[in-house]
Amino acid sequence: MPETNRTVRLKSRPVGMVTRANFDIADETVPEPADGQFRVRISHISLDPAMRGWLNDAKSYVPPVAIGDVMRGFAVGTVEASRNADFRDGDTVTGLLGVQRLAVSDGTGVIKVDVSKAPPQRWIGGLGMPGMTAYFGLHEVAVPKSGETVVVSAASGAVGSIVGQIAKIMGCRAVGIAGGAEKCAYVTGELGFDACVDYKGGNLRGDLKAACPDGIDVLFENVGGEIHDTCLSLMNFRGRVAICGLISAYNSTTPVPGPFSYRSILVNRLNVRGFIVFDFIRQYAQAAEALGTWHAEGRLKMREDVREGGIDAYPDVLNLLYTGGNFGKLVLKV
Ligand SMILES: NC(=O)c1ccc[n+]([C@@H]2O[C@H](COP(=O)([O-])OP(=O)(O)OC[C@H]3O[C@@H](n4cnc5c(N)ncnc54)[C@H](OP(=O)(O)O)[C@@H]3O)[C@@H](O)[C@H]2O)c1
Repeated sequence: MPETNRTVRLKSRPVGMVTRANFDIADETVPEPADGQFRVRISHISLDPAMRGWLNDAKSYVPPVAIGDVMRGFAVGTVEASRNADFRDGDTVTGLLGVQRLAVSDGTGVIKVDVSKAPPQRWIGGLGMPGMTAYFGLHEVAVPKSGETVVVSAASGAVGSIVGQIAKIMGCRAVGIAGGAEKCAYVTGELGFDACVDYKGGNLRGDLKAACPDGIDVLFENVGGEIHDTCLSLMNFRGRVAICGLISAYNSTTPVPGPFSYRSILVNRLNVRGFIVFDFIRQYAQAAEALGTWHAEGRLKMREDVREGGIDAYPDVLNLLYTGGNFGKLVLKV
């Protein structure tokens, strides 16, 4: 049987969580590179919470995925059939290659990675976009000082796990918030955070207060909702809040209430700033260098949650992110 490409194309816009019916998952002919292009045989696809937002027909930091288009997504794979002098057959590359088995690229936004230093899936995780998000959110947005208390939500995940570890490298007290005892034990035991609060434990405010006896200087927000509100209420004077993500609201079908602890922004003169990792595209090399060095030194631990099932499993695996079903950077093996 001749080889085919397998693609996930958007069929209809989801309401709430995505379903299999929102996508056409089908075999297509193998794409042939033109002059200046190359083909990538994708080995792993990155599942990112933002994917849900990219499906909404709404103004955002990138245009929505159009109906009929291949689903947007970061991926890693091997170059083949290259007709581009900068990329050779056998190179391992990452970029926005889409949710499919075979992608054709002219190299725009695609970078080569060194699989002798880390396995392919790590280059779409802690050493890739999520790791850079943690790096820039701390170094460029929240800018904690040594000795300060940094709190991060979704602390066992792709971004949060790196945030706390970099905060420790910066000399801060790192406090995570995660769902369940197992994730919290990993955050303190394996990743070396000073404390981790289980928000499902029924005493979020009390437990967070105990974990942050000197209050919160920097909040790295990944979740939003009640967790965000509780953290805001414990912020210190001139604290900084980096709004990285609001995953608790990504599948909402009704308007999401704003924070009730808004008064804390006023009385504590908080600096609240949202950011998107793409804002720092010109400094990616700097972040890659720092993350790579800390990783090689054993100071940054990373965990990937690699799921089997191939391209067809995409909708179900994506939904794990919004229920806490993943443990570490969620990746789909192709
Ligand atoms: N600004 C940027 O450029 C940028 C870039 C990358 C990612 N992000 C954002 O960063 C956040 C984390 O992304 P990630 O890739 O690192 O994902 P992740 O943390 O690896 O996975 C998502 C985690 O979010 C938690 N979660 C999901 N729904 C929740 C809810 N309703 N309440 C509380 N926690 C919930 C779950 O952890 P628990 O089991 O602990 O609840 C889940 O495992 C997301 O908000 C994402 O949009 C932003």
